[in-house]
Amino acid sequence: MTKEVKEHFERTSWSEDEFVRHFIEHADRYIPERKFFKETLLTVFEHYMKDNNNVRVLELGCGSGEMAEILTNSYPGIELTLTDASVEMLKSAQKRFKDSKTNFIETTFESILSGDVKLGNFDFVFSSLALHHLTPEERKEIFKVIHSHLNPDGFFMNMDTHKAPSEEIEKLYLSMKIKAALNNKTEPGLKSEIDEFIRRYHDPEHYKRLSTLEMDVASLKEAGFSNVDIYYKNGMFACFGGNRQRRS
Ligand SMILES: C[S@@+](CC[C@H](N)C(=O)[O-])C[C@H]1O[C@@H](n2cnc3c(N)ncnc32)[C@H](O)[C@@H]1O
Repeated sequence: MTKEVKEHFERTSWSEDEFVRHFIEHADRYIPERKFFKETLLTVFEHYMKDNNNVRVLELGCGSGEMAEILTNSYPGIELTLTDASVEMLKSAQKRFKDSKTNFIETTFESILSGDVKLGNFDFVFSSLALHHLTPEERKEIFKVIHSHLNPDGFFMNMDTHKAPSEEIEKLYLSMKIKAALNNKTEPGLKSEIDEFIRRYHDPEHYKRLSTLEMDVASLKEAGFSNVDIYYKNGMFACFGGNRQRRS
């Protein structure tokens, strides 16, 4: 990865070990929507991979590998490649997948975009809460890169946050977010975790990179994906994807 790309990543919270450890431990509390991401991921995988145990799977921005584990728990035969720019996250993922079949790649999305990283070809690619760190233009480009790395009939699913199409709907998304996370719970520290999530979501450096879901879906179609659809949506959170057709 180039010095410039590394420096950009190092300015984000994801290069701070303490922030990363807090996410690994607490994310399910303040982002309960991840439960639906996990369920959708497994269902879509089973549908498109036709219960095939021997497929090549790539996750971009894998974090601690919690999402990928949903797949390997049911399909131990899959050949997994996990990428992330955070060394701390990859260390945590390595503990989860001790088998020699899993490949780990320390890279930023920006390095993947510039072609610095050799990825190979895959049957199933997915990403969760990660690609929104790119600009909308970069996201469009990475969808094209993903498409080019998919085998015929291969499938890509992205699970991510989006900005709302209007200020009014943005307010609605926020109240949905607070309601989902708080859910009448009084756990110590939960309210401040939710407040911090919202503060970071609105941070100008973060917010300016977000697309609406409609924009991302259009980018996916433009990148050449077929059968593009949204499988789960709750306010700012959505799972959407498409496949690479055999003759595209
Ligand atoms: C919210 S976490 C999600 C982790 C995991 N996918 C999950 O859902 O549990 C975002 C992940 O994206 C990674 N990330 C952020 N910006 C990145 C970049 N520019 N290139 C590569 N990875 C990045 C972070 O290191 C972090 O692991």
